[in-house]
Amino acid sequence: MSRLDSFIRRLEAQRTILNWAAASIQGRSGLALELGLGNGRTYDHLRELLPGREIYVFERDPHPNPLSRPPARFLVVGDMAETLPVFEGEHGAAAALIHVDVTTGVPERDKIAFAWLPARVAALAMPGAIIVSGWALEHDALEVLPLPEGIPEGRYFAYRRAG
Ligand SMILES: C[S@@+](CC[C@H](N)C(=O)[O-])C[C@H]1O[C@@H](n2cnc3c(N)ncnc32)[C@H](O)[C@@H]1O
Repeated sequence: MSRLDSFIRRLEAQRTILNWAAASIQGRSGLALELGLGNGRTYDHLRELLPGREIYVFERDPHPNPLSRPPARFLVVGDMAETLPVFEGEHGAAAALIHVDVTTGVPERDKIAFAWLPARVAALAMPGAIIVSGWALEHDALEVLPLPEGIPEGRYFAYRRAG
């Protein structure tokens, strides 16, 4: 598979899993958290899927497409290793949906570089919350969910916060 094919498949998988995650939380209250703004593509998709829901976005170096910049009060700037614990102190386990899209670009490296992240995600998620991630999150409170149809094994990961 060429890198272009692989890139297209990754984006298709992202769209499929975000659509599925947003549908899964329909009718339930709670924040949405986007971990990693980047260009703002997935944030833009989430805000389209979740009109009216508060979506907080975490990013250490925000340079999105200007059309996809979150309002200042929903953009948490800084290293998530520091900003997530502060946010947790202010909001507690308030998230109904968390999308983890921070990466070093090398999946095997992500697990090591972000070893602190699964515990933060588990603490921010309310019981029953849906968490989707580009790499595997290992934490006792995160129950693995089957992937929606069309997502190849290992391309994305889905969890429910145990209650
Ligand atoms: C793959 S990109 C996100 C792509 C984005 N979701 C999109 O669709 O355009 C990952 C982002 O995470 C950010 N990031 C990585 N590690 C971080 C950390 N420890 N704290 C805050 N942001 C971080 C990077 O700056 C980068 O913008």
